[in-house]
Amino acid sequence: MVCQSVILAAGHGTRMNSKLPKVLHHLAGRPMLVWVAEACRQSTGRPPVIVVGPEDAEIQQAVPDARWARQEERLGTGHALRQAEGAAGEEPNCILVVNGDMPLLSAATLTRLVETQEANSGPLSLLTVETDDPRGFGRILRDARGRVSGVVEQAHATPEQLESRELNAGVYCFRADWLWSHLPGLELSPKGEYYATDLVGIAAQAGEPVVAVLGEDSAEFIGVNTRVHLAEAEEALRRRINTHWMEHGVTLQDPRTTYIEADAVLEPDSIVLANTHVEGRSHIGEGSLIGPNTVIRDTTIGPRCRVEASVLEGAELAEEVHIGPFGHLREGAHLGPRVHLGNFGEVKNSTLKAGVKMGHFSYIGDANVGADVNIGAGTITCNFDGVKKNKTDIGEGAFIGSDTMLVAPLRVGKGSRTGAGSVVTKDVPDHALAVGMPARVVRRLKDTDG
Ligand code: UD1
Ligand code: CA
Repeated sequence: MVCQSVILAAGHGTRMNSKLPKVLHHLAGRPMLVWVAEACRQSTGRPPVIVVGPEDAEIQQAVPDARWARQEERLGTGHALRQAEGAAGEEPNCILVVNGDMPLLSAATLTRLVETQEANSGPLSLLTVETDDPRGFGRILRDARGRVSGVVEQAHATPEQLESRELNAGVYCFRADWLWSHLPGLELSPKGEYYATDLVGIAAQAGEPVVAVLGEDSAEFIGVNTRVHLAEAEEALRRRINTHWMEHGVTLQDPRTTYIEADAVLEPDSIVLANTHVEGRSHIGEGSLIGPNTVIRDTTIGPRCRVEASVLEGAELAEEVHIGPFGHLREGAHLGPRVHLGNFGEVKNSTLKAGVKMGHFSYIGDANVGADVNIGAGTITCNFDGVKKNKTDIGEGAFIGSDTMLVAPLRVGKGSRTGAGSVVTKDVPDHALAVGMPARVVRRLKDTDG
């Protein structure tokens, strides 16, 4: 059995009130469409066909390896599905259809539907869910013998039909030849659209068995039509992601205020305290303690680090690094083992080797800082001359006095010292003391002083 998934994503998403196409709104760090595409890919073993609208070129960047179909006029879900025939090709004998606004569907649930259809002699199976909150979903109709006889949209349902608690999830698995031959026969609905849901009634009326697979977890069936739904989906995904990490040995002090995005990885015995965001491709090492009130973005943190009330973006920390409170690491900050960065320290595009101490109010940018350097309070690398960024090199074991201005390009030799408040504009040799403004070398230090 070759099964091809088709994602319907050409709708206007009018109820979102947004310039951004609905399926590009983010959930836990990924566009909504990527969640759906990944679940489809896992359950069919191949990339999906995605149906998009005429001006939706930006959507195509979200899932680079998908195959694309275009719906020029938005004439409903049935019409959208018809546009997918060419892209699906002739090889698949099973077509899994998923609405693009159902981001919480799991691959396991989709696979259950596909397997059900494989065993079904009829042309289609569909996913349904029972809940007391219908959220505008279509209702499943059943005949006197309990067999699925059709789907009716909420807008067209009778009061009696509206009582049905069984809802249409907008996820179907079809026998391919039956699907493509019956789509052209759909009739316009009272709303002027071709409904994919009408295929259910068509099959049932022909006496063909239609099998409904009842969803087990109602959280999977959060469809996103409005921003209120978007927030509900975000919350449900957050719960799912957090549960996953707790099951894998991570302690979350307060899962309700812990925001871990989909691509982040946390090692066992790491601890995340309240109100902490772990975003992008971040990695948190074993035994590290992060938070509270911390943002980790695209950052790799080694084992046994401590990061408190800080913002780390595009940085890399080796083991036992201590940051915060109120530290800020920016793109290209590499901190070696046991580096300590205290309050109001900022590091950008710089390497701080093992054991560097930078306790208070400092900015290090475009610099190379050798092992065991001590950076006094208020030190600044003046790395920008108004035109370009310049490099600062600080040798191993140097002691930079409080409030030193390091005017780059500059090299401060290993084992050297700068006096408090000095403005260093010229290179300082190894094992020398420079003071003043501009700083001058006043004496050589014995190796042992450095
Ligand atoms: C649809 C179902 C409804 C089901 C619900 C569950 C129909 C007629 N109704 O309603 O029974 O309970 O999904 O999710 O199918 N789309 C297109 N082109 C179009 C119209 C829609 O590609 O012309 C896409 C949308 O981008 C969306 C999906 O199809 O991803 C569903 O469309 P939407 O308008 O959200 O349908 P619902 O009203 O939610
Ligand atoms: Ca919808």
